Amino acid sequence: HRPPAFVNDPLTDFSVEANRAAMKAALDRVRTEFGRTYPIVIDNKPLPVTKTLDRENPSRKTELVGKVAMATVEQANAAVKSSLAAFDGWRDTPVEERAALLHRVAEQFRTRRFELSAWIVFETGKPWRESDADVAEAIDFCEYYAAEMLKLGTPQHRDVPGEDNRYFYEPRGVAVIIAPWNFPLAILTGMATAALVAGNTIILKPAEQSSIVGAKLMECLQAAGVPPGVANFLPGDGEEIGPTLVRHPDVALIAFTGSLKVALIINEEASKTPGGQNFVKKVIAEMGGKNAVIVDADADLDEAVKGVVDSAFGYGGQKCSAGSRAIVLDGIYDQFLARLVEATKSLTVKAADDPGSSLGPVIDAEARTRILKFIEAGKKEAKLAHQTDLGALAEQGYFVPPTIFSDVPENASVAQDEIFGPVLSVLRAKDLDDALRIANGTKYALTGGCYSRSPSHLEKVKRRFRVGNLYINRKCTGALVDRQPFGGFKLSGIGSKAGGPDYLLQFVLPRTITENQ
Ligand code: NAD
Ligand code: ALA
Repeated sequence: HRPPAFVNDPLTDFSVEANRAAMKAALDRVRTEFGRTYPIVIDNKPLPVTKTLDRENPSRKTELVGKVAMATVEQANAAVKSSLAAFDGWRDTPVEERAALLHRVAEQFRTRRFELSAWIVFETGKPWRESDADVAEAIDFCEYYAAEMLKLGTPQHRDVPGEDNRYFYEPRGVAVIIAPWNFPLAILTGMATAALVAGNTIILKPAEQSSIVGAKLMECLQAAGVPPGVANFLPGDGEEIGPTLVRHPDVALIAFTGSLKVALIINEEASKTPGGQNFVKKVIAEMGGKNAVIVDADADLDEAVKGVVDSAFGYGGQKCSAGSRAIVLDGIYDQFLARLVEATKSLTVKAADDPGSSLGPVIDAEARTRILKFIEAGKKEAKLAHQTDLGALAEQGYFVPPTIFSDVPENASVAQDEIFGPVLSVLRAKDLDDALRIANGTKYALTGGCYSRSPSHLEKVKRRFRVGNLYINRKCTGALVDRQPFGGFKLSGIGSKAGGPDYLLQFVLPRTITENQ
């Protein structure tokens, strides 16, 4: 009996009136729940709330979406204690039951789909379509990892006469899941469900900026019947409780997605082996990118302009996969740039809950300040080719104008640093070799793209554009679970691929048992 093949969950079609109405109703309903407080959950029990963090709507900064408890170091230690106590039981739970939990979590997501999308819209300023895609990806992670674990959970036998050999996988122990805010449900769910289905117990540490969505995941896990201590919810300040979790001698694994800076701190801290820790910690780290899209001289310009705009400005460039550099061959450069600017002018920057918004705000005040600083630097380093006028939005929320720099020198800060905002640098290349040299010339290697109609050029690009996810004649964002396992190398990640066939192997330890007959 073979389990049914994995199929990606379809995105909601918002051109259908019933879907638009359902999303509007969900946004209205969620609005009535604004201002609530979300507690820490340990052993499936909420802890009394002391310190909280206000979560404001980045599209309308006067709106308080809710308040989230901020864990203390003591509570972080209590979460590890609870996860450790639950580990043996969860490890010994049959893999079919662990997979069934993930199916039930996916069912929760399906049932609450519009509501969850609405929370994402309000808490993280992500427009409708992309918030819906976030929930769809979270469903995919549950279904995909459940199916993969059922395959991995079947022991392999290498028996010879007189000797039985069994090769199988066991979970590692307590896993701390440290997530970013930009795919608030999908990435937290992906790392969490992979760890869980493999038999680890988990501590969910959502990003501060998306803690309410994190609390919604915890609600779904509880509604799906996660046993006490198998998943604990620990919102908090990463700099405050992160070191406690990472250094803790009872934590076996840290699954992290976020910035390069924090990844390197975690990697270093986790490599120390304190007294009482009888194993070497495992770190899974996915970091940032400075991704490039090469536009060849014979590219289909309609496609290339659209693909570059989508890659650069989708969710305001706040994706690790965002195409923040367009490397354009000399022969087509001026024509491409003129059309790129026109296409960018047609983007509608609006509050994320507005169905007509193609681009919302950035996540918070700190991000806006950082991005505006890069824009000022860019004005000195390169030519400002376009900047959208924001009008009254600039005061209403944390909006940043979509900005394009042209004739950007390859070593400029706006060509090298991950800005994580709606800023696109356009660079000129002499020929394809030059374009590839520039494309590979950063410390990152996450995604990349190329628009070309020349088979020989595409062959060269496939060989020499060395990134984790390379996209030919399409945008460089929007990887789908199973179809495009996602992740980079160099300083973009340790080389694991979320939503791919090798991902779960990082959450387990292989064992061999030999029995003499
Ligand atoms: P961040 O590194 O600031 O924060 C990520 C998480 O780390 C948060 O939960 C934070 O609280 C926690 N943290 C902070 N300091 C810590 C410490 N000292 N110890 C332990 N935990 C700590 O990143 P962010 O701003 O939330 O996310 C944006 C970054 O994430 C970008 O660089 C982006 O490229 C990257 N990202 C990568 C991928 C990928 O798959 N490669 C996906 C999404 C985002
Ligand atoms: N998986 C996300 C994308 O591909 C980050 O855009």
